[in-house]
Amino acid sequence: MNSKIAIIGGTGIYHGDIFSDMEDIKADTPYGIVYLKSARYKTKDILFLERHGKGHALAPHEVNYRANIWALHSLGAKRVIATAAVGAINTEFQVGSFALVDDFIDFTKGRKSTYFEETNEGIVHIDMSAPYCPDTRKYIIKAASNENIKIRNGGIYICTEGPRFETKAEIRAYAKMGADMVGMTNVPEVILAREKGLCYAAIALITNYAAGVSKTPLTHKEVIDNMNLMSGNLKKLMASLLES
Ligand code: HPA
Repeated sequence: MNSKIAIIGGTGIYHGDIFSDMEDIKADTPYGIVYLKSARYKTKDILFLERHGKGHALAPHEVNYRANIWALHSLGAKRVIATAAVGAINTEFQVGSFALVDDFIDFTKGRKSTYFEETNEGIVHIDMSAPYCPDTRKYIIKAASNENIKIRNGGIYICTEGPRFETKAEIRAYAKMGADMVGMTNVPEVILAREKGLCYAAIALITNYAAGVSKTPLTHKEVIDNMNLMSGNLKKLMASLLES
């Protein structure tokens, strides 16, 4: 992977000593300011972006997705590797493991999901028959296999508006629609990345079973605790990926 890589994720990802030349960047975009970091890993240039802003201040429905993707694109990123916490709807997706998303269903409401609304380019319809970049996905599968990390190759992500978790009835309906996992952030991120021509892939961290799939009520703590448990493997996976 020679092109400039952006990693979108939580705080933990860049707290390693494997990176050099770490710098803070303030990117001024038409949609607002984005704070991110640049670094080097051996010969590779990397950008790190905390999706939820500094200190995880923004809930999923408040994230400025257009500014985030604009900033990465304008700083020269070609590939984006996003991480996203999800609840498993399909019980073949096990808590504590990873899945590589290969399609999505959009159940968000009223998020700004396109750059093509104030342009003179006429009406633009972006192809979504393969929203997640097959090439970047191949690198991720290889890196996971090198590290003996279990990752499921493919799975349908349904994106809800949040910030509340889903009802049991909603999860039953989403299961009938074919969704394997549920989260709140991948839409419109993947769409905007496609609009900008970025090669985008999303690694889902399965942090819990979705409402009703799990017998116990879902808490934010459960999600965070399991995400923390997975962070060691995630760092290993990222390091191996950056070697490729
Ligand atoms: N639902 C929605 N978003 C999530 C979940 C969930 O169960 N787990 C982690 N993010």
